[in-house]
Amino acid sequence: MEEMEGQEISREEALSRVGYKHACHILLHADTRAKLFGKIPIKHVVLMQMRFDGLLGFPGGLVKPSEESLESGLSRELQEEVGVAVPVTVEDYVSSRLAPSPPQLITHFYTKKMSEPELVEIEKAAVANAVDHGLEVLGMVRVPLYTLRNGGGLPWFLSHSFISNSRAQLLGALQRLRLVPQGALDEAVKQAEHMRH
Ligand code: GTP
Ligand code: MN
Ligand code: MN
Ligand code: MN
Ligand code: MN
Ligand code: MN
Repeated sequence: MEEMEGQEISREEALSRVGYKHACHILLHADTRAKLFGKIPIKHVVLMQMRFDGLLGFPGGLVKPSEESLESGLSRELQEEVGVAVPVTVEDYVSSRLAPSPPQLITHFYTKKMSEPELVEIEKAAVANAVDHGLEVLGMVRVPLYTLRNGGGLPWFLSHSFISNSRAQLLGALQRLRLVPQGALDEAVKQAEHMRH
């Protein structure tokens, strides 16, 4: 789907590679009945973050498989970055890829569905409780999944800059979890192409 996705490898192969660093990131999402302007159903809440470097990415970070499991390392990163040690299990695991950048990095991706109140608690804790708030993490952001007539929403969101292969992770998850209909997703990606720079 994406130029910057990076080759997929199995979890087993990933963990057996010598000389690689491992990063685990997660897409947290919830269903919602909320309506934008009291009119446009937003359907799902999907969380990303504005990073210290000005790029968008998912919460998570570097994990040391020699010292912790991928999932417990990810929970530790979530405690630091969103202020809640959200429990993560292998059930939430999606895939592992050789990152296009930086070299010698393997990115492991997870998704987890929560209730809307649970997700709102995380948004609050990310400000009130996370030690990285205002430092490594400048704020959590919700991804607009709708497309307005002028291209507002998902197309403009996708036109921003993303860390490593996180944009491909987002698009893959929106497709796989059916959070955006395929046609609308393809169209948003196409529109975003014309908005970049
Ligand atoms: P420190 O606490 O400073 O060590 O950072 P961290 O452990 O939180 O690491 P970070 O989240 O920056 O992730 C480590 C590496 O993974 C980064 O250098 C990025 O190249 C890459 N990365 C960061 N965020 C994402 C993401 O959302 N998706 C993917 N695929 N890679 C990411
Ligand atoms: Mn208003
Ligand atoms: Mn971190
Ligand atoms: Mn991080
Ligand atoms: Mn870290
Ligand atoms: Mn840190």
